[in-house]
Amino acid sequence: MGAELTGAEIGRLLEKLDIRQKVRLLTGADTWRTYAEPAAGLRALTFSDGPAGVRGTAWDERDTALVLPSPTALAASWDEELVHEAGGLLAAEARRKGVDVLLAPTLNLHRSPLGGRHFECFSEDPLLTGGTGAALIRGIQAGGVAATAKHFVANDAETDRLTVDVRVDERTLREVYLAPFEAAVGAGVRVVMSAYNRVNGRTMSAGPLLERPLKDEWGFEGPVVSDWGAVRSLLDTARSGQDLAMPGPASPWADGLCAAVEAGAVPVEVIDEKVRRLLRLAAWAGAWEDPPEVAIGGTSWAAAAKGTDGPSGTDVRQRERGLLRRAVAAGTVLLRNEGSLLPLDPARLRSVAVIGPHATDVRIQGGGSAEVFPASLVTPLEGITAALAGTARVVHAPGLPSSTLPRPLDRADTRDPRGGEPGVLVRLLDAAGAELHAEHRLSGRIVEPAEVPGAHTVEIRALFRPDRDGTWTLAVAGWGPLSLSVAGRTVLTGTFPVDSDDPTRVHVDPPYRRVRAPLTGGREVELVVRRGLGAGTGVATVLAAAPPPGDAVAERGRAVAAARDAEVAVVVVGATRESESEGRDRDTLALPEGQDALVRAVAGANPRTVVVLNTGGPVTLPWRHEARALLLAWFPGQEAGAGLADVLFGRAEPGGRLPTTWAAAEDDAPVLRTRPEGGVLPYAEGPFIGYRAWLRAGAVPAYWFGHGLGYTTWAYESMEVPAEVGAGEPFEVRAVLRNTGARRGREVVQLYLAGPEPDGGPPVPRLVGHTAVTSYPGERAVAVVRVDGRAAARWSTREHRWVTEPGEVTLLCGRSAGDLPLRAVTALSPAARETPPESALH
Ligand code: BGC
Repeated sequence: MGAELTGAEIGRLLEKLDIRQKVRLLTGADTWRTYAEPAAGLRALTFSDGPAGVRGTAWDERDTALVLPSPTALAASWDEELVHEAGGLLAAEARRKGVDVLLAPTLNLHRSPLGGRHFECFSEDPLLTGGTGAALIRGIQAGGVAATAKHFVANDAETDRLTVDVRVDERTLREVYLAPFEAAVGAGVRVVMSAYNRVNGRTMSAGPLLERPLKDEWGFEGPVVSDWGAVRSLLDTARSGQDLAMPGPASPWADGLCAAVEAGAVPVEVIDEKVRRLLRLAAWAGAWEDPPEVAIGGTSWAAAAKGTDGPSGTDVRQRERGLLRRAVAAGTVLLRNEGSLLPLDPARLRSVAVIGPHATDVRIQGGGSAEVFPASLVTPLEGITAALAGTARVVHAPGLPSSTLPRPLDRADTRDPRGGEPGVLVRLLDAAGAELHAEHRLSGRIVEPAEVPGAHTVEIRALFRPDRDGTWTLAVAGWGPLSLSVAGRTVLTGTFPVDSDDPTRVHVDPPYRRVRAPLTGGREVELVVRRGLGAGTGVATVLAAAPPPGDAVAERGRAVAAARDAEVAVVVVGATRESESEGRDRDTLALPEGQDALVRAVAGANPRTVVVLNTGGPVTLPWRHEARALLLAWFPGQEAGAGLADVLFGRAEPGGRLPTTWAAAEDDAPVLRTRPEGGVLPYAEGPFIGYRAWLRAGAVPAYWFGHGLGYTTWAYESMEVPAEVGAGEPFEVRAVLRNTGARRGREVVQLYLAGPEPDGGPPVPRLVGHTAVTSYPGERAVAVVRVDGRAAARWSTREHRWVTEPGEVTLLCGRSAGDLPLRAVTALSPAARETPPESALH
């Protein structure tokens, strides 16, 4: 970490810069970096995605990163200490990659279960989101790396995200959608990212919310960076609280801001304020010097990662992988466990059938800008096999034919035609077709080819060895002129103009163009894709393939036979890259085709069936009463299989509790729609999203917010609350629990508050605090839950401030929004002083 600068020091730096130099600092120099400014002794600041790992500045499969469980899984731990540790790991990774600012956490809410970036957000609840986000921010920043609270605000779905106008009332905005950002500012977040969308008619990169409440009420002192490409106009964005336009070098500010200031259309003081904020960040990030070493928990992680000092790199790697593995178990939610099927006793188990495509092809992270490249990966099959090595027979049956969706070629099925090593050859050619540059790559998905002057065409060339006979699907993706040849014969050619402004579709995930080709199993064939490079054609080029359709009946038959022959069946099912990714919302909550039927067939064949769900967001589970045990593993990161085995075999208790309510059927979800009409998406439900909507409607979901079983049971015996508290004062609640099971365990104790609703409706409980207790069988534990002074306050739209009405409120304590056995009433007495304005509270 660098230093905080005083106002006078910043003033002196500003004086060294002329208007051209100041304005230049306000747009990126490239995709991930700001400009250096030698006149102020300032080096460039480097930004990078994203929440589940640190990709660095290259989108390159050789530049690997540690992959954490996705943010929803972290939130499911309800464990801020663990999340803080995860933040420390992200910071160490960022420093290893020379990153100053990490573009995380994502603080938008799970408003609709169809939201495409559900996996990247924490929860449907603002308190859990804010608390988890604040813990991650503190962890990242304690490691000397700036965190970014994004996307400010109401970017809770992906459909038409660049233009959608979210209509949300003032109270809902304050109490629900802004609240996690307020917590982030309270935690000292260094950067806030403005979202692409509009709120109440104003685009967020020029919206008034950047000033009030973000800067003037909450006191945020850092820069507001735009989401990538979100600054799309000049004067309104420049005059607003937007401080930095990313990426660059092209942006409306780069083109016109200097002239606008000189013409008096934008005051110089407005520019100075933006630069001041950037300089403050740069000072904190140490951007005037080489990055210093940062000690975390007494050890220099940065030094150790570089292998200079402290513990060896191997020790650090082991510790990091240990944390990732712990985090998998901590976030895994045991939804159902009939007859205590779990944990399985590995000493007694003789055979296990591991079924499902995700057992080997596990999805460890969601798609889009959050994606990183793992250096290693433990699949569920590997984790289970390792845990049972030498003691039980483990058989695997996918149960479904291989997917017929194209997958980028990789080392498993291709060789580089030049060197012969597994992987592909990537070449850059000039206009005459002569080679300017060639490199060996590990994947057929090349997002950012090397930058070579004069390059006119990018080419991916691979010797592909199909593993079976039949009609394969070959697919290529990328914008502009594109061609594919198979064994020297051109089978696809065309020019595909960019059809979207969304950076994810343009640069990261362009759509596939497919052809079918009869291929012979085991016989190598040369595939060549070429794409013309040009302005506005994005950066990605992809060469992919999918096998011929397999025999679904035969695959399922093999899986059923394997399940029948084994003592226990573990079925792993889940989402695909296509079903959960940034840039689009989901169109169904159903699991991808064939998986529901597979689970039913396996559960029918073996009464001891455990289903493991590998999804980022909610899915419907029409068979949920047919399988005895149901574990929600989310997108668990690179240690997926190791953490899963820990839970299955009882080495760790499943620590997760749902951060979001799961509906039994799609139509039951109280808020579903993400598609704007006429460009407008009304948040007509007001503050009632998630469990609050279910409680208000008196409806029952499949699994409540907060639900999750451990390996022991608990009795909630009593609760002590203060008889009276001053309105607006913090207080404590004590609950006594007893471990009534046979194992030591941890219980997440949740406290909800119900008071008069401003609309006169029946009181609806909302989460106001939580804590965890651990105890041994038969022992009691006392949970002390601290409640913030703001917990009972509501945003007054008349007075435009937080107000706590004196009167009675009910406190409810238990293990989920739907299971609250303890309740007590507290009187809020008129406050000794008037409830302070919210700016004074955090
Ligand atoms: C995403 C951001 C991300 C940025 C940079 C945008 O499309 O919405 O979350 O940080 O790209 O990759």
